[in-house]
Amino acid sequence: MKRIDRSQIKKLMAEEEKVFVRDHPRSRKLFERAKKSLLAGVPMNWMVRWAGPYPIFANEGRGAYVTDVDGHRYLDLCLGDTGSMFGHSPRPVVDSVTKQVRKGITMMLPTEDSVWVGEELAKRFGLPYWQIAMTATDANRFSIRLARHVTKRSKILVVNGCYHGTVDETLVNLEGGRVVPRSGNIGPPVDPAETTKVIEFNDVEALEKSLEPKDVACALMEPAMTNRGIILPDPDYHDALREITRKYGTLLIIDETHTICCGIGGYTAAHGLEPDIITMGKPLASGVPIAAFGISQYVADRVMERILSDGTDESGLGGTLTGNALAVAAMRATLKQVITKKNFDKMLPLAKRFEKGVQNVIDRTGIPWHVVRLGVRIEYHNTPKPPRNGGEYEASKDYELERLMHLMALNRGILLTPFHNMALISPYTTAKDVDLHTKVFGESVSKLLG
Ligand SMILES: Cc1ncc(COP(=O)(O)O)c(C=O)c1O
Repeated sequence: MKRIDRSQIKKLMAEEEKVFVRDHPRSRKLFERAKKSLLAGVPMNWMVRWAGPYPIFANEGRGAYVTDVDGHRYLDLCLGDTGSMFGHSPRPVVDSVTKQVRKGITMMLPTEDSVWVGEELAKRFGLPYWQIAMTATDANRFSIRLARHVTKRSKILVVNGCYHGTVDETLVNLEGGRVVPRSGNIGPPVDPAETTKVIEFNDVEALEKSLEPKDVACALMEPAMTNRGIILPDPDYHDALREITRKYGTLLIIDETHTICCGIGGYTAAHGLEPDIITMGKPLASGVPIAAFGISQYVADRVMERILSDGTDESGLGGTLTGNALAVAAMRATLKQVITKKNFDKMLPLAKRFEKGVQNVIDRTGIPWHVVRLGVRIEYHNTPKPPRNGGEYEASKDYELERLMHLMALNRGILLTPFHNMALISPYTTAKDVDLHTKVFGESVSKLLG
């Protein structure tokens, strides 16, 4: 098995940073200016997490490509970390948004588009009632509130290494069997052990033990983990998850925000899951901020009266801009013409080609890594075998190596999502694009091995 020499990583990083700085003078100038008015020089702190000494500043995103202010064109495999996974500014969405902008942006009134959207979501995901939210974080927050309301229990259950947005109760880690705030979490409101139980993904025994006291309102989970690499469920995991949550009266919330990469009805439709609540966001309106959550008849029967009563206070299930006409119009166009079976039929063979390309490089070079695919989402990782849970993933993560791989890709015209080695195939991505990635990945691995 081949080993990577750490001094080689440092040497290559210094070389690649030199190239980056040479090639991005305009981004550098903007970043220096931005640091005087924006915290850390960016409008949102994740934007400093890209590889390189400073972020590239975007000029335009179109289809599967992004251009920056220095005139470089990139193959975008990050796609806004899923917000644009069906391509930047798809034509039908541009047309629909342009039309709606002239007809009113937000009126706090429902439009016909919202009815179409509700019907479509019910058809695709199998849950009868839907609500709109602004972000997937919000959809998760509101779903947890509903679960607490229905069950009259306060605690929630998540898996170690989960990410469901900046929902306070979920920003937790499992350390030596204890629930602790996630390292680097800014301003946790209370000790998360008060609100949250944490287990490892794929651990059925721990699941049963956690739910047995009947104090958990909901289990909030991605059907396959996508934020600690891609971690697939064991073959019988979902059956056990559903059976045990039902047994102890805990509602099951499935977060499909990323796993929509499995098909038009997400992992839920592809694998026949039966959650009580489904949450999602990001690409639903091609990046125009919108999210949605669907609930079962059982949940609806128990919350309807409260939602309609005069006594509901303002802390309800949304805010002033939620369900606005513009975002709902963008969502209708996206569901109707962008997140379609036809597009998935185009994307899937390319995702398989991508996976095969990476696997061939691993086999040819002997580097002890693996590659996993979930629908049109693919991820490689620096262990020979896939981790089974968040704890295993975190223990094996090599930040320095990952950053170098990303910078080598960026300097050769490819953007990978900053947090892990994830690639998304969009309807605009071509076989030539996929082969470019295989080539760049192969060259980078060969350089690493010296
Ligand atoms: C699975 C999952 N759920 C929810 C979210 C939150 O999405 P947003 O940041 O758009 O609120 C994310 C973000 O990465 C996510 O990965």
